[in-house]
Amino acid sequence: MASFGRHGGQGLPAELLASGGPELAGLRMAVTAGVSVVLAFTIISTWWCLAPLTGGLAFWQRRLRLLLSRRVASLDEDHFATEKEGEVAEFPSLSALADDKIVLSVVLLACDEEARLPVMLDDAIAYLQHRQLTQASFGFEIIVVDNASHDFTASAATRFVHKYGANVVRILRLRYRHDDGAAIRKGVLRTRGKYILVAGAEGFVRLSEYDRLESAMTSLQGEGIVLGSRAHMQLDLRSRGATKVSRMDADSGDAGSANPSPADMTSSTLEHRQGQTSQAPSLACEVAWRIFQVIFQMFCARDIYDPLCPFQLYSRLAAQRVFLRERLDTPAATCERLVLARRFGIPIVERAVQWTSLQECIPPAKISAECARDTLIMVVLRKLNLW
Ligand SMILES: *[C@@H]1O[C@H](CO)[C@@H](O)[C@H](O)[C@H]1NC(C)=O
Repeated sequence: MASFGRHGGQGLPAELLASGGPELAGLRMAVTAGVSVVLAFTIISTWWCLAPLTGGLAFWQRRLRLLLSRRVASLDEDHFATEKEGEVAEFPSLSALADDKIVLSVVLLACDEEARLPVMLDDAIAYLQHRQLTQASFGFEIIVVDNASHDFTASAATRFVHKYGANVVRILRLRYRHDDGAAIRKGVLRTRGKYILVAGAEGFVRLSEYDRLESAMTSLQGEGIVLGSRAHMQLDLRSRGATKVSRMDADSGDAGSANPSPADMTSSTLEHRQGQTSQAPSLACEVAWRIFQVIFQMFCARDIYDPLCPFQLYSRLAAQRVFLRERLDTPAATCERLVLARRFGIPIVERAVQWTSLQECIPPAKISAECARDTLIMVVLRKLNLW
């Protein structure tokens, strides 16, 4: 046995040497590794590129979880809870006529926002009620779209339903996490108002900025799309970050409060709210954003600078035209909406809004990259008449 082992041990290298030796084996291994890497890269990048069509990995994960989970069955996206205990009512549909009494429907997107949502809602309702006092015909509703939050966002919003009634505040509880585009769409499809405002629950834009969008909408004779825009903040971000100087009208507010109360928010730009902590977005974010912007302007709309700003006003007719037709679920759905709007001749204008976070005035690099990808795919498929 021992001699066999020794023979084997000594014989093998000799054989290998004769047939080209370890170099050849190494080469073979390197080639195999290289081919596998290339193959894996091709598969992954193809998957990533086609994600808007296949839904991506997250889409299938969600499908699977939905199949396996029983809890979700109890959440119903067609109904909302009223202020009465245990009572539910059915959401209306966007394709119906507007409710005469509701001028403005606000669709607020909330995902794990139990801390910021109440602040935003207090501020929003204060503003809207003020509008109602000065203008008797001004009715409003707020639809909080709860993106399957893991925290107590839904209970925070429910307190507002109890306080103001389900005619004013409604909660749409999504059954699973939706991409931004789909979440916005589901909210908008359940509104009653003549005008529909989409906003984020983080409160980067105060609802009183609606005034600016409204006056722009009036100049469009009340039909069209008005985009809130952060483009004015995206100019020379580097120097802004360094000097922490805001170009916006800076009214004096309390600096450095980490946890802003509604009172703080009434008199602050972010530079004030977050004091010294306000930083410019990273270079990677900015580069990705600029690339997206170039692609969007080249293929979709030359004169729109910030299609992704989450503060947008739609007239009901415009909303019906675009939201009932769009297909993308990703954040790039707003780009698709604008492309559709252009096709139907719906006027679009962009208005600067006061955005309170310098750091968040452009989206994360990942979102910009995905939007660039989705926009390109949409453009190509439209050219091929496949979209
Ligand atoms: C909802 O959750 C998904 C998945 O985490 C996220 O990508 C998306 O941005 C969220 N949407 C909103 C409106 O917060």
